Amino acid sequence: MTATTAVQAAYIVAALLFVLSLAGLSKHETARSGVVYGIAGMTIALVATIALAARDMTAAAVALLVIAMVIGGGIGLWRARVVQMTGMPELIAILHSFVGLAAVLVGWNGYLEVADPAHAALTGTLLHIHHAEVFVGVFIGAVTFTGSIVAYLKLSARIASRPLMLPGRHVLNLGALVAFVALTGWFVADPQRGLLVAVTVIALALGWHLVASIGGGDMPVVVSMLNSYSGWAAAASGFLLDNDLLIVTGALVGSSGAYLSYVMCQAMNRSFISVIAGGFGTEQAAGDDTEYGEHRETTAADTAALLREATSVIITPGYGMAVAQAQGPVAELTRNLRARGVQVRFGVHPVAGRLPGHMNVLLAEADVPYDIVLEMDEINDDFAGTSVVLVIGANDTVNPAAADPGSPIAGMPVLRVWEAEHVIVFKRSMAAGYAGVQNPLFFRDNTQMLFGDAKARVEDIVDALGAAEAATGGRALARAGA
Ligand code: TAP
Repeated sequence: MTATTAVQAAYIVAALLFVLSLAGLSKHETARSGVVYGIAGMTIALVATIALAARDMTAAAVALLVIAMVIGGGIGLWRARVVQMTGMPELIAILHSFVGLAAVLVGWNGYLEVADPAHAALTGTLLHIHHAEVFVGVFIGAVTFTGSIVAYLKLSARIASRPLMLPGRHVLNLGALVAFVALTGWFVADPQRGLLVAVTVIALALGWHLVASIGGGDMPVVVSMLNSYSGWAAAASGFLLDNDLLIVTGALVGSSGAYLSYVMCQAMNRSFISVIAGGFGTEQAAGDDTEYGEHRETTAADTAALLREATSVIITPGYGMAVAQAQGPVAELTRNLRARGVQVRFGVHPVAGRLPGHMNVLLAEADVPYDIVLEMDEINDDFAGTSVVLVIGANDTVNPAAADPGSPIAGMPVLRVWEAEHVIVFKRSMAAGYAGVQNPLFFRDNTQMLFGDAKARVEDIVDALGAAEAATGGRALARAGA
């Protein structure tokens, strides 16, 4: 077996491992093994690619490659170790920008290499195809690069998350796309450097503008859309580098990202086109309390008293649970209530938190059983028959204003928590959620606000339940028949 055949075989194994990884990541129970398959596939892919490339490289070049990998790998390990779950979308966005930048550099390198007479092995149709690949790769890469940087800046609150509404913004976007198509034809016929510079600049500006004009509420879709772009950028680089694995992997990332974006658009009742066109989540800032009436406050002790009388409880976690790192105490509260014979379930909105599956990961980390963690569609009809709903750090995902056609979040499906007998909202203030929209839930007659850090408040409730237990002589144990 030649070295090239061995590398091709390794690539097939790696590609299969990537497919297994995606399949594993689609369910809680198998997510861990999905990650392990991914790591194994990437290790095989890296070792095979480096071994193949190293055959034609000088010792000094190999040493440089190793040094670059050690530095890059070190930075990656360090960032991944220290990142908080809440900072994950930013990290993902900035990593996508690297893929975009790499695609731009690979594209430019492919152009310069062929333009150099010493390396010009391609002629005729093959040369035309090569130039089309260069142009498309640079375009997708540059859009991904600047788009991901803007997403990173917005998600990390380094720039405002409200959409940039330039006059005629749709015409600008459309104009950039038309210019790209026209320039591609021109470049294939006459590959001048100036045209490649022009498309690079146009694509960098388009990527920046596309994401800048999308509002905070749509950011989850943007992150998965950029994930998809980065996949297509990698696939374009795969064509240029003649690397089959990069093509397959890029296509897997590109199509799974596109599918995830579609699923998320459906979850938010938004069309893909309207997300890309931007402008969502701006018009109405958080208003004051007056037009909604007064809100009522409660205490941890009163909430514990309510829970002791409850037969069924639904917990709807949101971004605030992640900020407070309250998942441990929430799991403890769940165990406590279940031990008392209370039916406890979780209702997880598809875009609760700041990244897909955010809440599921936190709850799994805290050992909450998977079978009581339900999706929005599975639980939404059950709120009506529920004694108490605990809204822990969620806001936009439980906002009844979504039913109001005039609201900026109109049409977004939400958890109908207000249909329950009692709703307790855990948050620190009356501030609006991520989309900046006031939440009328807080002013409903059956809603009470439990202010403070969610972790501290849940711990207080667990303590109050325990104290009450001691005072009543172990009612839970009695109920459990012990
Ligand atoms: P949000 O609407 O973001 O609301 C979170 C709430 O948590 C806030 O009202 C905040 O109120 C409260 N909070 C923050 N820290 C807290 C703490 N330590 N203790 C108690 N409460 C705390 O949350 P959501 O309902 O999960 O909705 C998610 C939003 O993020 C949606 O608009 C979604 O579109 C967007 N988004 C989602 C994603 C993905 S993929 N899931 C990605 C990007 C953006 P106080 O400040 O008053 O405490």
